Parts: sequence; structure tokens; C-alpha cells
Amino acid sequence: MIVSGSTSQALAAALARELEEPLAAVEYDRFPDGELLAAAPDVADRDVDRAIVVASTTSSDAHLEVLQLQDAVREAGADEVVTVLPYMGYGRQDKAFEAGHPISARAVARAVSTGTDRVLTVTPHEESICEFFEPTATAVDAADRLAEPLPADLEDPVFLSPDAGAIELAETVRDAYGTGATDYFEKTRLSGTEVEISPSDVAVADRDVVVTDDIIATGSTMSEAVGVLGDRGVGRVFVTCVHPLLARDAVTKLSRAGVEAIYGTDTIERQYSEVSVAPSIADEL
Ligand code: R5P
Repeated sequence: MIVSGSTSQALAAALARELEEPLAAVEYDRFPDGELLAAAPDVADRDVDRAIVVASTTSSDAHLEVLQLQDAVREAGADEVVTVLPYMGYGRQDKAFEAGHPISARAVARAVSTGTDRVLTVTPHEESICEFFEPTATAVDAADRLAEPLPADLEDPVFLSPDAGAIELAETVRDAYGTGATDYFEKTRLSGTEVEISPSDVAVADRDVVVTDDIIATGSTMSEAVGVLGDRGVGRVFVTCVHPLLARDAVTKLSRAGVEAIYGTDTIERQYSEVSVAPSIADEL
């Protein structure tokens, strides 16, 4: 039975269809003092072998919902509890960046691990965060799905990543698209919202460019990257990512930078979630 957190209702429904498993009724409520209640009454009414909790932890409330739903399905008698974090919040805080800072990814992974037999997460920022879970989480690679919504008529395309770390992502999307060159920019992060991008040497004049990253958060990385292409006679510029977090004014930044279209998956449910990762998760399950 598939049990959805409030952040991943469309993806949970798509996964239920893929797996041909029932989608549980769920309730999300809040007490007058602000405390949350997430419940899955359906699970209690059935003899459930495997309950799959699906929830992107895009907020602190979403984290808590996961813990409550895991506990609810176990309490209701599920033999096996699987937790799918399509997007794992706090995943980028994978080390103590300053003395006295927490390794937040480890802290949340430990909490999630206590209520589940297995964890899957989609295209984590660093695969090493999977080891913070006990047992180790499975990383589901959904990058190939990003080729699906791209226009079929890309002109001599170049697939660029904003930094060397994301080049494999750009290569995967290029391979899935079927044709095109790949390259990467050099990125220096100046603060949480500011980055500096140095251009790649690849020729972009009259060519369509697809800039690919795992996450678009504030949009600083992508808009800077698109900006450096501006004066080089580039054709159309598309941006694509697995996790369209699109915080604050990210969409405005990208539009002002001249982006033709933004594509993302449904790991975070936004109007730009053009493609579902449900088949990739279903394959792994
Ligand atoms: C960081 O290395 C990630 O791959 C993304 O580039 C980053 O999270 C994007 O963040 P923002 O949109 O805030 O620049």
C-alpha cells in the first residue's frame, strides 16, 4: 500500500499506478497548538504486508510527517515499512561546514532510519549521504528522465552542467536525448545565494543549450550560468533539473536571464514538474 506525505501526493499516486498497489487514504491535520497529525486510517483496516511511505522532505513539517506516517503504518500492523524520500531535505548539509555545526543530513537520516526497514531517495546531491541511513539507503538515479520533456528539435545541442560535479548528470541527459555535446562551467559559491560562474570553452553560437543540475534552489547557479552564455550568440537556452525546489525568486531570476523553459521532475511538485520519477522508483522497488 502506498502512503503519501502531503508534499508528494501526485508522485505517490503515480507510483501506486506503476506498482498496481492501492493508494491509502491519508489525513493531515494540525492541533490548535501547532502540532501536526498525519495519519493513514486505511492501513489499519487492511492486512498490509508492505507500506511504502512517499514524502519529499521539503520542510521541517514534512520531515515530521514522515516520522508520523512511518509510525502510523507500523502501529497499524504493516510487516515491512519502506520510506521513499523523492527529495531529501537537508541533504546538502552533508558535513560540518564550520566548527560547532551539525551534519544535518546525518541527523535527519538517523531519525528516518528508526521507523523503516528500507529507504530510497532520488538523485541525492552526494550519494555518500545514503550511508547516513541504517541500513544504507538506495539512491535511485532519475537523471535520464530529464530528456523526456525536452523539445525534439534542439539545434546542434550542448548539454552543460554548472560545475564539474554535475557533468555526469549532463552526460546522462545527453545520452537519453540521443545526440549533443557536453561540457561544464566552473562554479565558485560565494554565499548561500551568490555564485560566480566561469564560462566553459565549448562553442555555443547558434546552438541550443540545455543546462542541467540536480537541484535548482534559489536559481543563482542556473541564472549565472545562463548569463555567461548571453553574449556568445547562443540559440535557445533550456534549464532542467531533477529537484525543482525553485525557492524565493528563482523563477523570476531564470526568466530574466533569458531561459526559454524550465523542466523538472515531480520529486518536488511544482508547475515545472514535467516528468515523473515514478517509473524509476517502481523499478527499484
Ligand atoms: C550544488 O552544488 C547543487 O548541485 C546546485 O547547483 C545548487 O544546490 C543550486 O542552488 P541554487 O539554485 O541556490 O544556486
